[in-house]
Amino acid sequence: MAGLFDDDPPPPPSGPSLFGDDAAPDPVPESAPAYRVLARKYRPTHFDDLIGQDGLVRTLRNAFAMNRIAHGFMFTGVRGVGKTTTARIIARALNCIGPDGTGSATADPCGVCANCRSILEDRHPDVIEMDAASNTGVDDVRAIIDATQFKPMMARTKVFIIDEVHMLSRNAFNALLKTLEEPPPHVKFIFATTEIRKVPITILSRCQRFDLKRVPIDTLAAHFAKVAAAEAISIEPGALDAIARAADGSVRDGLSLLDQAIALGPDAATITSDAVATMLGLADRSMVFDLMDAIAAGNTAQALGVLDHAHDNGAEPGQVMQDLLGLTHTLSRLKSIPSLATSSALPELERTRGRALAEQLSIPWLGRLWQMLQKGLADIDQATDRRACADMVLIRLCFVADAPTPGDLLRQLRDGAPTPTPAPQPPPLQRRRPVAARGGQRRAHQQRRRSPRANSRRERNPIHPPDAHPLRANRRPRS
Ligand SMILES: Nc1ncnc2c1ncn2[C@@H]1O[C@H](COP(=O)(O)OP(=O)(O)O)[C@@H](O)[C@H]1O
Ligand SMILES: [Mg+2]
Ligand SMILES: [Zn+2]
Repeated sequence: MAGLFDDDPPPPPSGPSLFGDDAAPDPVPESAPAYRVLARKYRPTHFDDLIGQDGLVRTLRNAFAMNRIAHGFMFTGVRGVGKTTTARIIARALNCIGPDGTGSATADPCGVCANCRSILEDRHPDVIEMDAASNTGVDDVRAIIDATQFKPMMARTKVFIIDEVHMLSRNAFNALLKTLEEPPPHVKFIFATTEIRKVPITILSRCQRFDLKRVPIDTLAAHFAKVAAAEAISIEPGALDAIARAADGSVRDGLSLLDQAIALGPDAATITSDAVATMLGLADRSMVFDLMDAIAAGNTAQALGVLDHAHDNGAEPGQVMQDLLGLTHTLSRLKSIPSLATSSALPELERTRGRALAEQLSIPWLGRLWQMLQKGLADIDQATDRRACADMVLIRLCFVADAPTPGDLLRQLRDGAPTPTPAPQPPPLQRRRPVAARGGQRRAHQQRRRSPRANSRRERNPIHPPDAHPLRANRRPRS
């Protein structure tokens, strides 16, 4: 892993000030080096330092070994997976002349020659980085095309790295086409984008395309452990795991979270899982599961209680509904793809509480919940009192369990008669709640079942046996 933990070289010393007088004294004493965020400090400088992109690295290495290097590259993938990093490594690989100044293009740039060093320091005259997000116009592209006409000043190859290339205007893309088709031999283009679908096919067909993958959680956690060790930071493995999950496959996002976690407790000997869980708002996430538990049990009081508590802690009603939608989606996926339940791609909470919930709920029930949540969210967005509207939506959701499914209704229409599936009396629900709460809820259930209104509805609607409740449908004997 050469170079992974090598610091980038320091920035070049600044020149005299604009008016010729001496540069202003640096307010920071020389002994305190400027702080650099982890993501910058640990930017890989070699192909072997890139994590989670083995396919890409293998192909690029082969290209260099066979000296078949494309003149245009297109890197795509979510933020922070190594697009810009790879582009810079390629720029060095193309231009490295080796420590003795006689080397040729190599997949393992030396890092010490003049070219390697100045590219690392971001000041090589022949490696031009442009952010298409702020240079979208045809004139910006014309400037690049003009620059391709001149031979490189000190490098072998002029490298143009264009980030977020999908932001270029249509005219700008068109202006680029001809040069990209047949660039001068001393020119390479490297494009990076997070939105490959916005890049015209005419551009894509002139480049070699690489799709950078989201980095798996295990790989991320191992990488962050190395970084923490290099920083002499003590952090619990559970905390690293939580950060790796929250990073959602992005190395940069994870390193930013690690930065934030380190800032949490400068005095603490060890950064704990609990501290990181709070920082990541995982406590809020368990609230969504509480809410789903309550809705599935049809327990209005409990659902409203959870929302009250979340609201007191600053949660926004619309966001709570969004979170519920997200959980409904996850639970439906869990039901449809059982192997997901053991996949490490799924966050801890989803694997434990999510799995338990998914076992108890049915797909039609989840589908109905999804639709009602969508409608509820739209209602909340238009409501003058969002909080009250959220309460009303929750109450409606708690009764979703008692409504007959479309299948039930169809059956009733088709048969014209009740479908008398005599339901044995369900044993009380087995829930993950304290015994006292369980008792209260059971009483509430029994009361609901005994209430004259409910009973008369059941008589009028005999196709709706008591076990149409999603939890009751899969009831398990109490152990
Ligand atoms: N595959 C990777 N392996 C190791 N570190 C990475 C990787 N991808 C991103 N990083 C880290 O994230 C930072 C930003 O990466 P960058 O290449 O700029 O991402 P992007 O894909 O958004 O261009 C890097 O400085 C590095 O610290
Ligand atoms: Mg980038
Ligand atoms: Zn070199």
